[in-house]
Amino acid sequence: MFVGSRQFPARRGGMDMYGRRTAIWVWPFMLLVLLACNKKETMLPPERTSDAPRQTMVAPVEESASGTVSRRSITLGFSQLGSESDWRNANSESVKEAAAEAGIELLFENAEQSQEKQFEAIRSFVAKKVDVIAIAPVIETGWEPILREVKQAGIPVIMVDREMKISDPSLYVTFIGSDFYEEGRKAGKFLRDFMLDEPGPIRIAELKGTEGSSPTIERAKGFRDIIRERDDFEIILSEHANFTVEGGRRVMEKFLEERGSEIRVLFAHNDDMALGAVEAIKAYGLRPGEDIIIISVDGSRKALEKLAAGEFNFVVECNPLIGPQIMQAVQEIMEGRSLPKRIVSSETVFTQATAAQELPNRRY
Ligand code: AHR
Repeated sequence: MFVGSRQFPARRGGMDMYGRRTAIWVWPFMLLVLLACNKKETMLPPERTSDAPRQTMVAPVEESASGTVSRRSITLGFSQLGSESDWRNANSESVKEAAAEAGIELLFENAEQSQEKQFEAIRSFVAKKVDVIAIAPVIETGWEPILREVKQAGIPVIMVDREMKISDPSLYVTFIGSDFYEEGRKAGKFLRDFMLDEPGPIRIAELKGTEGSSPTIERAKGFRDIIRERDDFEIILSEHANFTVEGGRRVMEKFLEERGSEIRVLFAHNDDMALGAVEAIKAYGLRPGEDIIIISVDGSRKALEKLAAGEFNFVVECNPLIGPQIMQAVQEIMEGRSLPKRIVSSETVFTQATAAQELPNRRY
């Protein structure tokens, strides 16, 4: 929806009494609209269901010497946080493919887990005067100063995949990504139901992702909020393993050395760490999926193969293929449309029974 079209429907024919009265109050209002457009950013009333405010930016148009106005191509700066997992690599591919398909010029920077590098990338996008900046933030905190710089430059920001904790919502247009808290709850619910007939104590080891990142914080919270329903569920070991296969293997080896005979369940915050842990469990002489129940998040092909083979017990999906949604948001922003403040990816869960039939559809 363009700002003018819905609020001011075109009238045909001459001006009647109603028209004259309308004209008296319409002119000051038009003046206000023009002033607001000059400020490049305006709030619109909600159009789609969302409990959050919407934000609108002006469309990228170029005016030629003869005064003709035409669209120019859109440039998107994307600050990706790293390449730690299969999920992340699939996410990067999805963004690149979707940009090419939409005809959007993409400036892509991989920050290799460094927030400092993300700041550098964002500043370089500002210097290059890109139209929109999308950021997949490595950790939740510390973003407000750089986002204020971007706002000052008049460039709209899309938060992608992970959340940034910021107190001023005008610093970004929309946040596109998964509901990590809900993912943690899904993992907890599976465990609660799976263990219905098993007497406690049920001792759980947890492999957390990157310290300070929103998936780590939210998945841990969601999981705990469900398992606290039973007081004989006990998380006896919990450590960060950075969402990598190597981290998962290394930390699981340590867990097994410390309390190998007690661990009944492993909750890994992503597939890569769970895959590393499975190697450690086998090397220790236990059977993953039987002696130790394995619950993981993401839904990569490798994880579903393990699930179908009985070495994982449950996988909560987290969808990395959000490139098309990001490009759609970029285009809508540039057309001056309003967007909900939060766009949540729709996701499912996989069990040992559903994994095999899902495998042929897996794209990563
Ligand atoms: O932010 C999404 C998480 O980051 C995925 O679960 C994980 O695999 C990735 O590295």
